Amino acid sequence: MAPTGKRVLSGVQPSGELHIGNYFGAIRQFIELQEGNEAAYFLADYHSMTSIRDAAERRRVTLDLALGFLAFGVDPKRSILYRQSDVPQVHELAWCLSTVTPMSLLERSHAYKDKVAHGLPADHGLFAYPPLMAADILIHRADIVPVGQDQKQHVEMTRDMAQKFNHAYGDVLTIPEPYIYESVAVVPGTDGQKMSKAYGNTVEMFAPEKALRKQVMGIVTDSTPVEDPKDPNQPLFQLWNLMASAEEREEMRQVCERGGVGYGDVKKRLVARLLDFFAEARERHADFSARPDDVEDILRDGAQRASAGAAPLLAAVRQAAGVGPLS
Ligand code: ADP
Ligand code: TRP
Repeated sequence: MAPTGKRVLSGVQPSGELHIGNYFGAIRQFIELQEGNEAAYFLADYHSMTSIRDAAERRRVTLDLALGFLAFGVDPKRSILYRQSDVPQVHELAWCLSTVTPMSLLERSHAYKDKVAHGLPADHGLFAYPPLMAADILIHRADIVPVGQDQKQHVEMTRDMAQKFNHAYGDVLTIPEPYIYESVAVVPGTDGQKMSKAYGNTVEMFAPEKALRKQVMGIVTDSTPVEDPKDPNQPLFQLWNLMASAEEREEMRQVCERGGVGYGDVKKRLVARLLDFFAEARERHADFSARPDDVEDILRDGAQRASAGAAPLLAAVRQAAGVGPLS
């Protein structure tokens, strides 16, 4: 049962095209949690400065991410949808948090270590990412944070920072919890590693049909002949299972056990399923793409509502820390 009566917050970095890992790992839960909770979702454009150094590209992917959120069903009437850079108070809070963040905590960040291992430059922004992410969460006084498994550690770091801050200055910050859908905590990419825009192994539900087909055809499989049984733990079958009913999953399990079906056929079925499963979202994506001014209006309204909550929280933080007017 999904929680209700909570304050929910999450965000995604606009740093490339959305993929099915983002959807099943995180965004599907965003939509579900709109029901009965107070939710806010944002486009983490300042975070994307750790990976994109081209202004026009950032604008393009930020708009595209907004289109994706709206297409999947983030409803600006029910939830707050905003751009991180429209709520600048978050940087003031990030500074406050960084003063209670041990260096050793940042050095343990998997995301940082992983990005460096994949060749991203190790600058201070990437290293100092966790206090900014913590500020995104804490400024909204979020109780729960829906994310994929890879972000769990960041939410745990947020808890740590909030506890240290509260310990020093009194109970000002709400301690959040990660909300992770264990069954799809990590969606595999076409090469079998975690699907990630950074690894070039994505399946993108808003891509033109031809490109989507190419991505699916590129999913790695072993070299088992058509007639032989197949290993059901391969990424192809895991991706199929994401959108299959219980009976269809069982049918595919039996197909793997018996053999007699080629990977090419399964891939064709997967393309058809993706197009069907995301048909409505693809339509809404195309519709919103034709109305960028409406999208900007939605974000402007979201910024106002997000700032209205951020200002009193930041005032309480400053007051607690003895920063600002002397009396
Ligand atoms: P990417 O790894 O492609 O850069 P992001 O880090 O922007 O993706 O992720 C946005 C959200 O989607 C996060 O909550 C993240 O945990 C989730 N997510 C990303 N990739 C996956 C995946 N392969 N499986 C499950 N969740 C994922
Ligand atoms: N770090 C997240 C990612 O890479 C994006 C993010 C930034 C976020 N701030 C956040 C997610 C706050 C949840 C809550 O996907």
